Formats: sequence, structure tokens, C-alpha cells
Amino acid sequence: MKSQATELYEKTFGSSPNQHAFAPGRIEFVGNHTDYNGGLVMGAAVAEGITVAVAKRDDRKISLVSEEGDPVEAPLDAITPLAGEGSWANYPLGVTRALLEAGMEMDFGFNMAVVSNLPVGAGLSSSAAIELATAHALAAIYGFEADKATFARIGRKAENEFVGMPCGILDQGVSAFGRANHLVRIDCATETFGETPMPEGTHFWIFNTNKKHSLVDSAYADRFKECNEAFSILKNRYPEAKTLSEITPEALEAAKDDLDDLLLRRARHIVGENARVRAVESALAAGDLEAVGEALSASHESSRVNFENSTEELDFLVQSVSGQADVYGARLTGGGFGGAIMAFTGEGFSRSQADEVAAAYREAFGIDATVIHTQAGPGATLI
Ligand code: GLA
Repeated sequence: MKSQATELYEKTFGSSPNQHAFAPGRIEFVGNHTDYNGGLVMGAAVAEGITVAVAKRDDRKISLVSEEGDPVEAPLDAITPLAGEGSWANYPLGVTRALLEAGMEMDFGFNMAVVSNLPVGAGLSSSAAIELATAHALAAIYGFEADKATFARIGRKAENEFVGMPCGILDQGVSAFGRANHLVRIDCATETFGETPMPEGTHFWIFNTNKKHSLVDSAYADRFKECNEAFSILKNRYPEAKTLSEITPEALEAAKDDLDDLLLRRARHIVGENARVRAVESALAAGDLEAVGEALSASHESSRVNFENSTEELDFLVQSVSGQADVYGARLTGGGFGGAIMAFTGEGFSRSQADEVAAAYREAFGIDATVIHTQAGPGATLI
């Protein structure tokens, strides 16, 4: 992808780039919507991602081009969010602003070309990939030193404050800390990033529904609000808890009459997901892949019933892949309300089984699912 980025850069700007960076997309393995609730989550960087080519300009403009259309321009001294067709540029522009706020000095503007082999809207967080690739590339050309955690926070800040999406640190953290054949484990309360090896012979299969809830952004923001509301009520009983994730399943059940049915189900999902991350960690350490799979399937069930961030299409894919041989478990991956499911499988799960699932999906919904067989790959880096 590096040569494609160079080519797009040269064709658009008529000169050569002097830095390239790559950042991967991510799978959410387990720990759904726990990140902005101060909880635990495990993910993996995928092999696919976004590559950028950059160089400084000799004026104070920013010009960004993707494979999709004409360059988008913005003045370095007044970076504000764009609407409409150029709105994809808000991710790199938001990162630029977050880097400036973090102390990076920019004497001149820059040109940037963006290429991707990560399907957009597939639930694999192309937004975190572009944020992290931009952060690495700009830090290199402007001489700004930062560690992986800082890059992840800068990406999240761009998304929260510039794009206006109240996401947690999962996507950016996994894109920053990804490692081949490893899961990234994040304790979002302390923003501590760790890793766990993927058991040998296990694989990820992604099935993208190619169908999105029309109100996906507002549905996410609604869940964010509902979790805060549930926590503010539970805090009356448990004043020592700093986040919803500090409440144990037993403590939640003891307080269940304090919450209405909807808030109770939202809280059960978060509290249950934290418990499932712990269960998955112990099962991985014990090499008990059946138990890992059970926790993944239970996570999806909780999304369906408690958090209501699944859809008919996601449920269908989870159910049909779970019925196949050599599948440990499957669940929606990421925010939900459309997007993709992830199946965690053994070596024996084959392309023809995946095709069967896709054919059943086409039969049921008249939509082609995108199927990606991928592995845990490395995190964001200069290339
Ligand atoms: C999206 C967000 C993440 C996280 C997941 C759900 O991917 O960007 O921060 O909240 O949803 O776990």
C-alpha cells in the first residue's frame, strides 16, 4: 500500500512525499461498550488498515486527498470540522488539532494522501486507523515525540472533540498497541495497555452485514447517556464506585430495584461484559477455547437482550456461523447497530463454510455480506 500512497500523492501534488505511516483497523474481541464506562476490553489489530503519505508544504495550508475524490483543503490556522463530502477529512484534521494542542509545532502546512485496504463501515474502525496513521506521520515530519498511549489518546480526542463521537479508547488503543498474533487488553479506568498471545491455530473471521442502522451515531450517544444515567443512580447506593465498571454483578443485582428495566439491562450488559473479559482471560490462560467461545456467545446474547445494540442481520450471522463446525464463538464486534460480527474459529473452519454463511445471509436479506479472514497484526507505525 506504500507505493499506492506515494502514487496518489505524486499524482495529486506533483512532488514526492517524505514520510509514510500505516495503522491497522481493529476487532473488538470481548468487552462491548465497556471502554467509556471505565471497564476492561480485549481487541486485536487486523492485518488491513490505512496508509498515509505526507510532506510539508511551503505555506500554511493543509491538503488531504483520498482515493475517493478531489483534495480537501483547510487553513492550518483555523482548523474547523467540515460537513458533507469532505467530512472524512475531519479525522486527520481533528488529529492535527489535537497534536497542536498537545504541543506539536507546525511551521508549515502539509499535504497528505490516504489509501486504504480496510473496508469503510465494516465495523473495523477505519476512523481509528486514519487517526493513528495521521498522528504517526505528522509527528515524524514536525519532530514531535510521543509514546503509543499518547498517540491513542490524541486519536480519541480528535474523535470526541472534533468529530463529536463520544467513543472510548478501544479503537485507538488497539490500533496503536496491536501486535502480530496477540490480543490487546485495555484497562480503560487506568488506560493501561497489555497483551495476551492468541492461542495457536485460532483464527478470526469477520462477516460484515453491509447494513447500518440509519441512526447509528445517535444510538451510540444514547447508550453513552443511558450508561451514565444508570451509574449516577447506582452511585447513591455505592458512593465509593468511580465508574459503572466498578460495580460487581452481585452488587448490581442487589440494587436492581433502584433502576427501571431499561437502565437495569444497560447496566447488566456493562457489568456482565467486564466479567466476561475476565472469564476470557482466565480461559485463554488455561487454554480452554470452548470457554472462551461461550463467553463470546454470551456477550452477543447480552447485546441482543440487554444493550439492544444488535440487529436482525447481526443476530442472523452470529447464529448461522455458530452452527458451523470448528467455531468456538461469535458476536457482534464494535459499536453495533449494524456493522460486523466476528467469529473465533479453529484451523478447520474453511472458506466454503464462510461462503455457506454468506449464502444463507443473502437468501434471508438479499444483501451480500463481506467476509474477511484475518489475523492479529502489528499496530500503527512509520513505514
Ligand atoms: C465503537 C467505539 C468504541 C467502543 C465500541 C463498543 O467501536 O468507537 O470506543 O465503545 O464501539 O465497545
